[in-house]
Amino acid sequence: MSEIEPATKLDAQEISELYNTVWTPYRENFPADLMDNRIPDAGQVATNMENNDYFVIREENKIIGIVRCQFPHGTCHLDRMVVHPDYQKKGIGKALTQFIIDLAKERGANKVWLDTTPALEKAVKLYLSMGFKEVGFFKEHYWGQDIKFYELIL
Ligand SMILES: CC(C)(COP(=O)(O)OP(=O)(O)OC[C@H]1O[C@@H](n2cnc3c(N)ncnc32)[C@H](O)[C@@H]1OP(=O)(O)O)[C@@H](O)C(=O)NCCC(=O)NCCS
Repeated sequence: MSEIEPATKLDAQEISELYNTVWTPYRENFPADLMDNRIPDAGQVATNMENNDYFVIREENKIIGIVRCQFPHGTCHLDRMVVHPDYQKKGIGKALTQFIIDLAKERGANKVWLDTTPALEKAVKLYLSMGFKEVGFFKEHYWGQDIKFYELIL
């Protein structure tokens, strides 16, 4: 497995494809608008790269994990993390999260925060195991989904 490294626009197509692979099985559980938002096409990924840092991890030259972050208001916002289903439960999600925590410290952020839906149980379990605390709840927020906010104070 490769090091975690910054993605470039050359990776946009592969990133879009991995989002599609990971999220398509969830389509029956979530609203179509939410799923469309989580599965951007390559052009949208490339555009998003102008305001977001994307990081990827590869296995045999293929992207198998993605995480994204932004640094609003001196904080670090982590989002859009996925790991290819064939490579889940091997510690890659934890490694991607830890990478963002370390980057946030390096850049002087005071916290890492994120939001997710309680329905994504694997993700919630991962964040809690890494010390994130639940700090907020928005009822029927994104396309009608209940959303919980988590933070890790650095
Ligand atoms: C959430 C997600 C990113 C986690 O990725 P992951 O690579 O499977 O995460 P990790 O392997 O680091 O940790 C998950 C589990 O694997 C376990 N694990 C880690 N290393 C392991 C190893 N070497 N062998 C066996 N299990 C291992 C962890 O202990 C953890 O299990 P636990 O919570 O029961 O303790 C992944 O499930 C995913 O892509 N889900 C769909 C998209 C999603 O929900 N994204 C997040 C949106 S907020």
